[in-house]
Amino acid sequence: MWGASTASFQIEGATTADGRGPSIWDTFSAIPGKVLNGDTGEPAVDHYRRYAEDVGIMSELGIGAYRFSIAWPRVLPEGGGTVNQAGLDFYERLLDRLLAAGITPWPTLYHWDLPQALEDKGGWPERDTAYRFAEFAEVLRDRFGDRVRDWTTLNEPWCAAFLGYADGVHAPGRRDPSAALAAAHHLLLGHGLAASVLREGGSQRRVGLTLNQTTVRPYTTSPADVGVARRADGVRNRIFTGPLFQGSYPADIREDLAGISDFSFVRDGDLDLVAAPLDHLGVNYYTPEWVSATSEGIDPARIESGGDGGAFVGCDDVVFVSQGLPRTGIGWEIDASGLYEVLVRLAAECPGVPLYVHENGAAYDDEVGPDDRVRDPDRVAYIDAHLRIVHEALKAGVPMHGYFVWSLLDNFEWAWGYSKRFGVVHVDYETQRRTVKDSGRWFAEVVGAGGLPR
Ligand code: NOJ
Repeated sequence: MWGASTASFQIEGATTADGRGPSIWDTFSAIPGKVLNGDTGEPAVDHYRRYAEDVGIMSELGIGAYRFSIAWPRVLPEGGGTVNQAGLDFYERLLDRLLAAGITPWPTLYHWDLPQALEDKGGWPERDTAYRFAEFAEVLRDRFGDRVRDWTTLNEPWCAAFLGYADGVHAPGRRDPSAALAAAHHLLLGHGLAASVLREGGSQRRVGLTLNQTTVRPYTTSPADVGVARRADGVRNRIFTGPLFQGSYPADIREDLAGISDFSFVRDGDLDLVAAPLDHLGVNYYTPEWVSATSEGIDPARIESGGDGGAFVGCDDVVFVSQGLPRTGIGWEIDASGLYEVLVRLAAECPGVPLYVHENGAAYDDEVGPDDRVRDPDRVAYIDAHLRIVHEALKAGVPMHGYFVWSLLDNFEWAWGYSKRFGVVHVDYETQRRTVKDSGRWFAEVVGAGGLPR
């Protein structure tokens, strides 16, 4: 399956239209200094009004599946309770357009736009948020269960929990490691509850979630470096895959984090719900991590950060090191081999579950040339390299079933605002004009051929 991905807050705009309530990203982006250049979700790329044009572009490119997200505050402006039919109507129009164009809809329920009303009651660190999420899933199942086969509950719970509640660079901007751990658990619980709701009454429905696993490599083979890599891998990867695939939080993680949390947020029965088998699993991959126990002996230019674990809870002493590789326009090192490692590892951890790359792509400073072309050879090279790695994984027996490029359109790149362009379609933010980039035309050829040129 060849697809393209977006997310509601990043593209829709129309943040107050038709009864939509505020989300945590509306609140956060309105605070000066939180998002580069003071950018907000308005008007984004005005997809709320231009969705038909955007579906048309996908048709033109031959894209087979569209991964988008449904804004919770459009559907339940208060987070629960009264349903806003006008918000649902928008997604109905979008779904019907996609289906008419022969494009498989692949909605995600949570791509970070929590209703502000729920954050006001404590947000994801509160258990009740998971139950409100299940309520949201029920509303969507009842309205769209006849038309949507493939559902994704969460996008990148690591970012939602740890960038949002520990590091504070994402909404809601809290810096409370213990709250972040509770948030991670309640996101997983919300996934488990929502997955069972979505499956009710539809034997054909397939439900999964999207993780942004990455490989965490030790800088050397010293026991100290291997030790910090194990710890960082724990809070980055295994804190999700443990509960999801083994039905438990790995003992070493609980020990590492004992000074931060006693995990008393885990209640009887939670982990059975979380570990219910998945119908598919999405993986988002951009760049790997490399860690060291010490900065001694490392070229200072190679040191990315250290002394503040930030989103890596319990890793304040870990030094993050660069591999010295070329970087994309957002500063992330390009290393497709990390994707191979992630896919092979996941295939072993959840045997038989179909895997999809739900996001992969690169930001560059693209410009529309006088001839109306956007020449973005670096993005083509990035996607090409990663697709070749996906093929290697497939040859190694990994059950790869699809690849979705991030992103269909240039959009609101969270704390970076509109300064980072990930689209295979360029958007002029002044005029909202769309221009298919060279990478979009190249991707259309790949999709058309069902594979890369040799
Ligand atoms: C992951 C997120 O899901 C998406 O929203 C974001 O824009 C891309 N990565 C790029 O950072």
